[in-house]
Amino acid sequence: MSQKSSNVYNNEDSNTSSNVDFEAVLQMRMNRRNILKRTAGIWGTGALASMGIVGCASSNSLGNGVGNAVGNGLEPTKLSSLGFKAVPKHLIDTVSVPEGYKAEVFYAVGDPIIAGVSAFKNDGTDTDLDKRAGDHHDGMEWFGLDAHGKPSANSNTRGLIAMNHEATTDEKLSAFLFHADGGTSNLPRKAAEVDKELMIHGISVIEVTQHHGKWTYKQDSAFNRRITTMTPAVIMGAAKGAALLATMYSPDGNYSRGTVNNCGTSKTPWGTLVSGEENWYGYFSRGAQDDAKRGVKSKDVLALNRYGRKAGAASRHGWESAGTDDQYARWNNSAIASNAKDDYRNEMNTFGYIVELDPHQPTQALRKRTTLGRFAHETCNFAKPVAGQPIVAYMGDDARNEYIYKFVSTALWNPAEADTADKLAIGDKYMDKGTLFVAKFNADGSGEWLELSIKNPTIANYAGFEFKSDAEIAVFTRNAADAMGATKMDRPEWGGVNPKNGELYFTLTNNSSRTVDGQFGVDASNPRTYSDMKGAKENKGNVNGHIIRLGQNKPTDAAFKWDIYVFAAEAGADKGSVNLSNLTDVNDMSSPDGLVFSEATGICWIQTDDGAYSDVTNCMMLATIPGHVGDGSKKSLRYKGSDGNMKTVETHVGKAPTENNLKRFLVGPKGCEITGLCETPDGKAMFVNIQHPGENTKMSEIGNPTKYESQWPSNAGYGAGKRPRSATIVITKLDGGVIGS
Ligand code: FEO
Ligand code: CA
Ligand code: CA
Ligand code: CA
Repeated sequence: MSQKSSNVYNNEDSNTSSNVDFEAVLQMRMNRRNILKRTAGIWGTGALASMGIVGCASSNSLGNGVGNAVGNGLEPTKLSSLGFKAVPKHLIDTVSVPEGYKAEVFYAVGDPIIAGVSAFKNDGTDTDLDKRAGDHHDGMEWFGLDAHGKPSANSNTRGLIAMNHEATTDEKLSAFLFHADGGTSNLPRKAAEVDKELMIHGISVIEVTQHHGKWTYKQDSAFNRRITTMTPAVIMGAAKGAALLATMYSPDGNYSRGTVNNCGTSKTPWGTLVSGEENWYGYFSRGAQDDAKRGVKSKDVLALNRYGRKAGAASRHGWESAGTDDQYARWNNSAIASNAKDDYRNEMNTFGYIVELDPHQPTQALRKRTTLGRFAHETCNFAKPVAGQPIVAYMGDDARNEYIYKFVSTALWNPAEADTADKLAIGDKYMDKGTLFVAKFNADGSGEWLELSIKNPTIANYAGFEFKSDAEIAVFTRNAADAMGATKMDRPEWGGVNPKNGELYFTLTNNSSRTVDGQFGVDASNPRTYSDMKGAKENKGNVNGHIIRLGQNKPTDAAFKWDIYVFAAEAGADKGSVNLSNLTDVNDMSSPDGLVFSEATGICWIQTDDGAYSDVTNCMMLATIPGHVGDGSKKSLRYKGSDGNMKTVETHVGKAPTENNLKRFLVGPKGCEITGLCETPDGKAMFVNIQHPGENTKMSEIGNPTKYESQWPSNAGYGAGKRPRSATIVITKLDGGVIGS
């Protein structure tokens, strides 16, 4: 999600706490009234050109499953140094990679992924958007295929890439790049525009192949698939069948449709995709009188406020205004009818989850794993699974002052199951039953995972929200975490588990509401608040973000130790209060967001989504070979409190990176964010997403390409039209070597 959009939708800060099968889904769908009719996708050819530009590990999880070198029992090569020359910061409308590398575009928004669908015209007149790449490419994972189309841990030339299409570039409601004239910017929205917008969100799965060094996607692959906002999904886990999830579409609370605002991805140890629903609440509107209708003191209203949907909230695109048909009405989250089974007051409760799909099985429905909690999910990073031990996964909630979570499965890991054909059934076993924990970071560098379950008396007796069941904790996870006094973090974005030592990393992207003291005052784990100038504009808080890391003896342990791996900063910022990691022009950065460890090399790739340093540089990707928790020292930071007195906060900073072990690898085109990364198991091809190039283009400039902030990737020779497009690039080394070596 872009920093521009984030001003409205991503920076939700409602933490005011003082501290089944596809056929069955279809059948049930048909039985409900007013349900949108959609034509079935035709799985069907065409080679696509990939064009040159200038000149990471499959999974950000430690998933040991099919498709990565570790899972195959092969010991991956771990690099001990970075072999490339750093790329300078720039403001040019191009992708730059180091000397000796090339980056080629091969899959951009609108590209057809079903046989017979025409090439994308990119002028706002394209149709069949559910049979094309979605918008805002985000997290993605690699799933190798052998010559027979079966999962393969070794294939480096054929595979599936499953990726999120998080959002769309918009202004005043309209996804204007998809409408010939820019679309309508007032309510009510036009149904024909909304019908398109509903289809550009979700997930895509594509088959990709490499021949003679050239990567292309296969337009007619039977594996290709689009999940949109309307694709049937099955509710699974603790909240399945709960009255809280009853809607007109699924009165029994067992089903939902689609997924939206999917940001991070990870790969499970059994070889499926998990995708995090992030800023889903922004897509729903609520009537101004809805608090009164539900009861001002009701748990409904408490929870809606805690999840950023106050009464009267307007939706991001106004989809609910396009008509009375179901596909529009469902985005109005108000209590309208006499009971929840006859309206969509609970529709929002069917979003906000980790969703799982098996890219190898294009007809299996998406499963929403409610036991892993409901919040602004990013990645879901699995600790290295151990036979006979629970499966453990870590997750962040990306909003200001939200928390970091851990899930521990009830079932104990049986490695033989990684090869099971019905992988979603394995997901049922390990992700539908288990316990959630939330992180508390102590000032002394220790920390603890606090249990979120109805068995925990602190939650069962919490005055702030009368929890009655684990289903309620699954749906109102933030409220439960509030009860435990979890640590309010500077927007937890993506996580990653270091394959060398099992330590967990989380990017904390920035936090404009971090203050010197009070409710969101600095603490040891979020210790900076300062002022940074962007031209004449002053930004305040933790402007540039940091990356925290946690170490545990065993992933199931309640205790952990932590330190801050790196404080993002401008090279010229004060080294005593802001640039605490001594970053230089080679490695300075702002707003780390995507973070992926390469299974092949051990490199930790850091990607930025920044609006603070963007007067100096476009967003970027850096490579690092980090050390370990505790390799640095304690640091004291001095601040002037709001009472005018000087105060000190002590934090724990990792050993400062050097220009050799942390350097910039890529800088993107204008207005983009760099996000998503996966790689072939040999580490020789790396796929990276360029999201929302030209996002500061104005709706009124549509039809006037010279005004567009960016014309990428058409200026790199890819595709028709000059409207900027989110796209996947593939990076290879000219000598055919391992990326980063
Ligand atoms: Fe989708 Fe929080 O970045
Ligand atoms: Ca992002
Ligand atoms: Ca600045
Ligand atoms: Ca972000």
